[in-house]
Parts: sequence; structure tokens; C-alpha cells
Amino acid sequence: MRTIDWVDGAVEIIDQTVLPAEERVLRLHTVGELIAAIQSLAVRGAPALGVAGAFGVALAARIHADDPVALDRAVRRIESARPTAVNLARGARRTAARLPLGPDAVLAAACAIRDEEIAASTSMAYRGADLVVELCGPRPTMLTHCNTGGLCAVTVGTALGVLGELHRREQLAGVIASETRPLLQGARLTSWELGRWGVPYRVAVDSAGPFLMARGEVGGVILGADRICANGDVINKIGTYAHALGARRAGIPFIVVAPESTVDTDTPAGVHVEIEDRGSAEVTGWSEAVNPAFDVTPYDLVTAIVTDRRVIRLDRGEKL
Ligand code: MRU
Repeated sequence: MRTIDWVDGAVEIIDQTVLPAEERVLRLHTVGELIAAIQSLAVRGAPALGVAGAFGVALAARIHADDPVALDRAVRRIESARPTAVNLARGARRTAARLPLGPDAVLAAACAIRDEEIAASTSMAYRGADLVVELCGPRPTMLTHCNTGGLCAVTVGTALGVLGELHRREQLAGVIASETRPLLQGARLTSWELGRWGVPYRVAVDSAGPFLMARGEVGGVILGADRICANGDVINKIGTYAHALGARRAGIPFIVVAPESTVDTDTPAGVHVEIEDRGSAEVTGWSEAVNPAFDVTPYDLVTAIVTDRRVIRLDRGEKL
């Protein structure tokens, strides 16, 4: 299963807004359709957004081949469709750098980004599984937040890929997936993926995480990132920071798994990152709401960051 791919001249995605009730594939033919899919979270998660940005530029390169002004405008719209995950703008810009070479070169660059994310997932799964065994002991129950599986990448995923690998090694007791209000990426998407993989899981309301940790029911927290800053601050789905505080208080590891394409050393710290505000409608129909979609977890609450190339032990003072 590929969450996102280029198929016969269009971008195909699994529509994540209707899972798990329906498994629907959307074909996106225009930049407008692609941007709408990104903004509605039909395609979501940092690595998948990088691939979406890249394929978006490939679409634009074909549609606006004879109109450089329209092409430039399309690239900018894609880059800024969502602000927080660094992968989106990065994927779009890297692909746009090939525009002078023509649409086929642009598509080849986009496919290369897709393939890099697939390879990165595999690498993180092995490296992360080794680290969890080292830090959390044999057969832990791991708590995860949001969705970091194949749906957020292209195939395997980041933190969820690690959990899948631990399950294959028979080194995982089970997973607690926090439901991830308001859009329920945990309750809808993570549970759907874990169910397909045969990994035992239970869903918890977001606010239960720290209490379950305090009761000794969690061996470690493992989740993804939308951006990792130069100082190690981790920007991820709202609720991540609360889980990091719970983990620190309970004395259990807090492990972040993300590809190098999510590491943003040009941004010194989380305070500089635009946190997307997704408005009231997702939270409640009957009053105003404040709805930040992500938060910043300070680096000193993070035990380790696992990427496709390295393990950075922040608890030992290692630097990015
Ligand atoms: O708003 P979303 O669903 O795109 O947010 C996704 C997350 O916060 C994920 O945890 C993050 O992208 C990591 S996926 C490797």
C-alpha cells in the first residue's frame, strides 16, 4: 500500500478523511485539488506532505509548461498550503529547482523524494526498534500519539514503523494509541493501521496518557515530528508536549522518530515555527475555540531522536 503515488499522470492518495469507515482512493489532477487534499488532511503527516509537495510541483510543471508566472504562483501556493511540517515546502522547493529542465525532470525529482521516504522508513524501523529494546526493556507497552504509520509517510511510516518492527521481532507487548483530538488521527488512523498489521492495541483519550504512565502501564512514549529544530525542539501534533511531561515525570523514555527530511537546522528553536491554527469548526460547532494543530516539546524532555541516518541521544547532551 502506498499512501501517495504518481499514477498515469495524476497524484493518487488514500483519502484519510474517510478512514476507517471507507477505503477510498482519490485521483488529483490539478494543483487546486492537491492543495484542497492537503488542507483537508486527506493527505497528511510530514513525510507524506513532502511527497505531496513534490508531486504538486510535478503537476504544475505539466499544467503550466508555457506560463512561467502561473507556474511560479502554483509552486508558492503548494509550499504554503500548510505551515508547520517542514517537509511540504522542502519537497516543493527541491522539486521546483528542476523546473528549468522540464516536466519529466521535475517528475523524476518528485519520484526520488517518494523513494527516499520509503527507504528512510525502513531504516528508521530497524534503528528505532533496536533503541526501544535498549531503552525500554524487553516487550514493553509503548504509547504513541497521532498517526505515524504508512499513512503519514508512503509505506511503513516513522514511529509506527518502529512498533511494527518490534511486533515482528516479538518484542512488543502492545500499543496505547492516544485518540488525538480533534481529528482523531490516533483513534481512526493508527488503530486502522495497527489492526491491519495484527499489533495488539488499545485507544486512550488524550488526557489519559500521563496517568497511564504514572501507573506504570507504559514502558515508553514513541511518536513522530513535523519539524525538529536545531536545538532539538520537536514540533508535533498538539498533545505531544503533555505526553513528554508525563514521560519525564514517570521516568520513562520519550523517543521521537522522524526522517532527516524533517530535521530543520535552519530554524534554531521551536519558538520560531509557525504553529498552524485550524479554526473552531473542527473542535466545536457551538462556540469559539482555540485550535493549535501542533505544539513544541522542549529538547530537554526528549530522550532520543531516531532518523534514517542516526540516533541523537539528547539525554546525553548530543547535538543535531
Ligand atoms: O495534522 P497532521 O495529521 O498532518 O499531523 C501529523 C503529525 O503531527 C504527525 O505526528 C507527524 O507528521 C509525524 S508523521 C512522521
